[in-house]
Amino acid sequence: MLKLAIDVGTSVTKIYRIGSGIVFAEATCVTVQKDTGEIRAFGNEAKRLLGKTADLTEVVFPVFEGEIVNERCMAAYLEYCLGKIVRRSSVDAVFCVPCACPASSREKYYRVAKSAGIARIGFVEAPYLAALGQDIPLSESNPVFAIDIGAGKTSSAAFSLDGMIAGVTMNVGGNNMDIHIIDHIAENFNLKIGALTSEKLKNSVGSLIANDNQSMIVNGRDVATGKPRSVAVCSEDILFPIRIYVDKIIEYAELLLQKLPAEVSAAMCKNGVILSGGVCNLAGFADYISDKLQMDALAVGDPQMSVVLGGGRAIGNDSLLRRIQME
Ligand SMILES: Nc1ncnc2c1ncn2[C@@H]1O[C@H](COP(=O)(O)OP(=O)(O)OP(=O)(O)O)[C@@H](O)[C@H]1O
Ligand SMILES: [Mg+2]
Repeated sequence: MLKLAIDVGTSVTKIYRIGSGIVFAEATCVTVQKDTGEIRAFGNEAKRLLGKTADLTEVVFPVFEGEIVNERCMAAYLEYCLGKIVRRSSVDAVFCVPCACPASSREKYYRVAKSAGIARIGFVEAPYLAALGQDIPLSESNPVFAIDIGAGKTSSAAFSLDGMIAGVTMNVGGNNMDIHIIDHIAENFNLKIGALTSEKLKNSVGSLIANDNQSMIVNGRDVATGKPRSVAVCSEDILFPIRIYVDKIIEYAELLLQKLPAEVSAAMCKNGVILSGGVCNLAGFADYISDKLQMDALAVGDPQMSVVLGGGRAIGNDSLLRRIQME
């Protein structure tokens, strides 16, 4: 029996295989031939085609805001993932799901996993796994606060080994920033840029550090003339469309903290907040959060991989897995 932890992200699917570590990390994306419905390209290869396909080809992201929205494409994509790492053995998988993931969403994962041939399926909420992935010890008496900021959603939760104390998932993440950056560049530079360029710009020069002046040349189309044009864009130029969403995330985290029992709140302030998810790679992110929430902010290792790494820890520890697995 082969054991896997699978983190199906809005943007990137990551898979941990027991005994091997992280064996798969690719865009959660496929291309579909519109007239026949045939699924043609998968993963990073499919995402590279975004904005460049002919009329008959559609680029499909089967997960939106952390939820499976296209079961057929998701099942085909999962088969593609498994085909890359497993050879005809029976698979046991734990799926990393958003905090407070409803039963109806888990049923979709279940159907998709079954159709991809997975024999046994379990679910664990992402914040537990983010803590495990960053080697934060979980106990009954020491509550932990974690925020996972992905492409399509943000999960914030306070929990201990005894269970969730409070947890929320909001539909805000890196994708919102990318879309807003497109509009912002069109307004301020009269330049229309594509989704891939916008994401690359955010990931290369996006920063929450005041007066950061990293810059990147972006290529697009002049809004007035329609002709190709390039401009240099610096961190400061895209601060607004990034910070607006980070501030929303902080606002939600503060609301959650205010609702916690006093003892739990005190423990949170002492222990700090664990940050995970790709958006934590923004320059100055942890310091910005720490400053606003007035507590330490920890992002150990590669925050984008924390959840799936934690999944790997969980599948290697049956008694721990039984405790944190959703019913
Ligand atoms: N260096 C970076 N700076 C800013 N954002 C980044 C960086 N690297 C990756 N990201 C962003 O992180 C997001 C992907 O992170 P992650 O893999 O944690 O999300 P996901 O798991 O696919 O999504 P979700 O958890 O919301 O379903 C994307 O929006 C990506 O653009
Ligand atoms: Mg995620």
